[in-house]
Amino acid sequence: MNDLQRLRAGIDRIDGELARLFEERMAAAAEIAAWKRENGRPVRDPAREREVLDRAAARIEDPALRPRFAALMEALMAQSREYQSGLLDGAAGISSPACRGGGPASRPVEGCLSHGTPGIGYPIFLERGALSRAASLLDLDRRVFVVTDDGVPARYAETLAAQCRAATVFTIPRGEASKSPKMLTALLEAMLRAGLTRGDCAVAVGGGVVGDLTGLAAALCLRGIDWYNVPTTLLAMVDSSVGGKTAVDLDGVKNAVGAFWQPRAVLIDPELLETLPPRQLSNGLAEAVKMALTHDAGLFARFEDPAGYGPVEDLIAACLRIKTAVVAADERDHGVRQALNFGHTLGHGLEAAAGGRLLHGEAVALGMLPMCASEVRARLLPVLERLGLPTSVNFDLDPEQAIAAICHDKKRLDSRFVTVFVPEIGSWEFREAGLNELRGLLTGCEGVRHDC
Ligand code: GLY
Repeated sequence: MNDLQRLRAGIDRIDGELARLFEERMAAAAEIAAWKRENGRPVRDPAREREVLDRAAARIEDPALRPRFAALMEALMAQSREYQSGLLDGAAGISSPACRGGGPASRPVEGCLSHGTPGIGYPIFLERGALSRAASLLDLDRRVFVVTDDGVPARYAETLAAQCRAATVFTIPRGEASKSPKMLTALLEAMLRAGLTRGDCAVAVGGGVVGDLTGLAAALCLRGIDWYNVPTTLLAMVDSSVGGKTAVDLDGVKNAVGAFWQPRAVLIDPELLETLPPRQLSNGLAEAVKMALTHDAGLFARFEDPAGYGPVEDLIAACLRIKTAVVAADERDHGVRQALNFGHTLGHGLEAAAGGRLLHGEAVALGMLPMCASEVRARLLPVLERLGLPTSVNFDLDPEQAIAAICHDKKRLDSRFVTVFVPEIGSWEFREAGLNELRGLLTGCEGVRHDC
């Protein structure tokens, strides 16, 4: 046996041992999932996952190997979750309104970059200058239908289109009013006119409205074509571009008609934020604060740092670690993904009642304040102020208008609503609330500054 054969025999022996251990681990995971279902506990326990990862990393002595082992454990845990879900259909859903979660999400930043992100099944490219290299990251060697809005600098869609074999750029008016069935129809008609076939694709170059609309048009066009999301706002970069939620509003009801239609890839170029107006930046920061409050106390501490929250790409990566972990656990929003609706029940009501005076993130900021323990609120208030977000309603709020909008909210459960509450920073729990409680909480949004 030569040296190489001897070394390879060593690897083969180790692989054999790993295969045996893998089967043993999966069997143990399946037993735990069965126990959780019997005892009405959610399959996902992010705090425990973090603990497992930290302990695993601490067992590796070579610091150069530690992050590699952490990535391996991540992939192993994602496999285990998928296996459990397959065995226990529905076990990852909400088992009761008292379902809880929290703790930092566990995907390494590297997992979000350039490689297929385990669990969500498509890559997220997060790199400065990525837009000008889009053709090397996305398959643009086909007919490409690029959607943007008139609030986004035209050169972003042009930069993308210039890298495609054949591109059509479709520009919609900025704002929520474009998320309409009428605009969806216009988009679909233009897609057909452009001669798209099933092998072609759409690309959204814009914020949440452009992404939601383009994703839905892609889901419907020829019964579903590929699409890519190229978010240009911070809100879309930290949250809405990932997870495949697509929709239009109907009859005054936000996101009333939609589909889960995952993009083939998400391309995030933080350089595009340089043209984003400050109010829009704050708007996105509200969703980042939401992620931190519900899932990552360390991330929240960054917002409290008087020196600032640090490089924006680190912030985006931290949010995407949370987002991808949550979406991987509950793509269809039956369970833990609803934690990302923190602040949104009251927020949607306030946004509707404000009639355009509040941006989505601003309404969410206000909607989060009454939905957390008073110690949490006391820390949240200065953070929102520092980030340029509102902490009280500064217009005549008609609570009944807000309540009417909330009643259309898809989280409605008979006359009770499932809301998300943050008892301590980095964790969340579902709480049921009736209409009267929500009315009271809306008043809290107006007066919350004085309560603390
Ligand atoms: N933006 C919340 C979600 O994607 O579920």
